Amino acid sequence: MLSFEDDYSAPALQPAAPAARPTAAAPVAASTQMRRVQAADKRVINGATDVNQLVPFKYKWAWEKYLAGCANHWMPQEVNMSRDISQWKDPTALTEDERRVVKRNLGFFVTADSLAANNIVLGTYRHITAPECRQYLLRQAFEEAIHTHAYQYIVESLGLDESEIFNAYHEIESIRDKDDFLIPFIDTLTNPQFKTGTPEADQKLLKSLIVFACIMEGLFFYVGFVQILALGRQNKMTGAAEQYQYILRDESMHCNFGIDLINTIKLENPHLWTNEFKEELKALFQKGVELEYKYAEDTMPRGVLGLNSAQFKEYLRFIANRRCQQIGLDEMFPGVTNPFPWMAEMIDLKKEKNFFETRVTEYQTGGALSWD
Ligand SMILES: [Fe+2]
Ligand SMILES: [Fe+2]
Repeated sequence: MLSFEDDYSAPALQPAAPAARPTAAAPVAASTQMRRVQAADKRVINGATDVNQLVPFKYKWAWEKYLAGCANHWMPQEVNMSRDISQWKDPTALTEDERRVVKRNLGFFVTADSLAANNIVLGTYRHITAPECRQYLLRQAFEEAIHTHAYQYIVESLGLDESEIFNAYHEIESIRDKDDFLIPFIDTLTNPQFKTGTPEADQKLLKSLIVFACIMEGLFFYVGFVQILALGRQNKMTGAAEQYQYILRDESMHCNFGIDLINTIKLENPHLWTNEFKEELKALFQKGVELEYKYAEDTMPRGVLGLNSAQFKEYLRFIANRRCQQIGLDEMFPGVTNPFPWMAEMIDLKKEKNFFETRVTEYQTGGALSWD
């Protein structure tokens, strides 16, 4: 264990090089005696300061998001699902198209959050050298587990065919295509051989972080969120809609954290943000919008709940513009507007206090939230 009384040489502050710690056999020369961790020396990637020392804080935005995430804590079993259960059993309560929406939705989400958790725990975490950011990632990883739990809880409550839902990411083309798009980027970060420290590797890391925060959490989740929340707005599946509302709140924070992380890496490593790299990112956003639109069409072959695919085309372009802007890229689809202004309201849950008459906002004890 580290002792705060010890002096270390600079290399000793890198956790990857514990052998460099001063020992009786290899004392550190007086000229290389090291000061304690200074906030100014911390870096989000390729940092040389001790990752075990949370303070002194440098990245306060990460710590604040960690506190806000904790203040938003919730568990799936706290949501009453009895109305959803009786609606699902009642052949007249939901149309076939609405049932398809629910099943396709769960088919994507039941495995998506496991992919997200793996990406954080087995990938992103070990490449990030700022302990404040690691602290948030630990909280985020737990939230992904809660989300997987919530989707499982809905599947179980409604008595859906578990095998059908949990295998959808293999068996339903529009879902598989989204996951096939994501997996190479997750594999980059989780590959044990992958190390940052060269411009090429750092760009790979940055690209994977952008795909994860801006395209997966920031775009691929949104057709599903809109659909289930639209059901809830029509008084259908209100328990599931309430679960999705909590999840949407968490995911907005994940996305915002990812964007702060990306922008900080950019600031600290401006050489990574080349024109060629930006072009590559635009192509990824383009592909992401296409895949999510195909998913929207597949989940709603006809209009349902007052929603149709044309609105989703506009909405996905609107979100893609927003994500691009947030990380400093030009808007890709000038002139598009948000066809679902009520979603913006939904994200700002304080305005929805009485909507489902739930305790959504009562968890919100922290004041540090920053919404889109
Ligand atoms: Fe999640
Ligand atoms: Fe997430």
